[in-house]
Amino acid sequence: MYSRIESIGSFLPENIITNQDLEKRVDTSDEWIRTRTGIKQRSIANENQATSDLALEASREAIKKAGINPKEIDLIIVGTCTPDVATPNVGVMIQKELGLKNCPAFSIEAACSGFIYALNIANKFILSGESKCALVVGAETLSRITDWNDRNTCVLFADGGGAAILKPSETPGILYSDIGADGAYSDLLYVPYGTSRRPPSEKDNNHFLHMKGNEVFKVAVKKLESIAVNAIKRNNLSVEKIDWFVPHQANIRIIQAVARRLKMPMEKVIVTLDQHGNTSAASIPLALDVGITDGRIKKGDTILLQSFGAGFTWGTALLRL
Ligand code: UT7
Repeated sequence: MYSRIESIGSFLPENIITNQDLEKRVDTSDEWIRTRTGIKQRSIANENQATSDLALEASREAIKKAGINPKEIDLIIVGTCTPDVATPNVGVMIQKELGLKNCPAFSIEAACSGFIYALNIANKFILSGESKCALVVGAETLSRITDWNDRNTCVLFADGGGAAILKPSETPGILYSDIGADGAYSDLLYVPYGTSRRPPSEKDNNHFLHMKGNEVFKVAVKKLESIAVNAIKRNNLSVEKIDWFVPHQANIRIIQAVARRLKMPMEKVIVTLDQHGNTSAASIPLALDVGITDGRIKKGDTILLQSFGAGFTWGTALLRL
């Protein structure tokens, strides 16, 4: 018995901000952003769109593509670090909009690893028989916690949503999934405000993301290499047997460095960073959707997903579609 991704849906806000737009805002250049990060443009939610709106659009698309009745969904898990409000959680908001009642619905706060964490948990619910149809979402409005006057971060982050429908299957779907964290690095990437220790304040920058980018970069490359090697070894696979590598989209240089260390040709890597920017928990389902929709990822392909984010948190999944 396996759980299997039946479909992927995604949603990007219509509003696009290019590198040239950012040149007018902060001391940066299209050339710096492209060469140091790989990003050319990003989608940013309009003021009426919150994370649950993006999550809902992506979920509706995933439901449609899976050809299921939404009433079949018996579990909703959302990875996000930018929930609409402190409570209720984004999962409950989607549940209400889909007209569902009674199924568990909750959010996972694991930053950029939110989708892999949610997938890992939903996989266990399916394997235990507790869920027969799970909706797994990664959605963010990072624009709301980005300081648009800080060139170190505003060129990176973006908004979007991605969703997957998971069902039990007799043929392989999710072959392996592993998640981890190390709180010792919590001061390298964080938002100082919260609802408990430090309520948000408009007077300072405490409700914005703070990042020591180059330190995050170094830890990310090492950790991403080791979890990928581990996933490949533990499943008696080799890099040659992986058809597609779908990494979290944070920086093209991180993706290239990990691919180089794994000896994974870049032709097998799905890169959406140039168009999407870093959408945190949404980046992997968004990239998967691009790869499937443009015909590169085909049924039966073996796919390696991996994420790394604030915390630090990380995760991998090996799957067959
Ligand atoms: O998704 C969660 C995980 N997040 C990540 O994985 C992000 C990891 N980090 C990164 O992607 C990169 O570290 C950044 C893209 C954030 C920064 O790239 P970098 O090559 O590490 O640059 P740096 O921070 O070492 O800065 C190099 C220079 C500095 O100037 P000086 O001190 O050398 O004069 C920065 O002030 O680049 C400057 N700089 C910029 N210049 C133009 C920083 N941001 C910009 C900018 N435009 N937007």
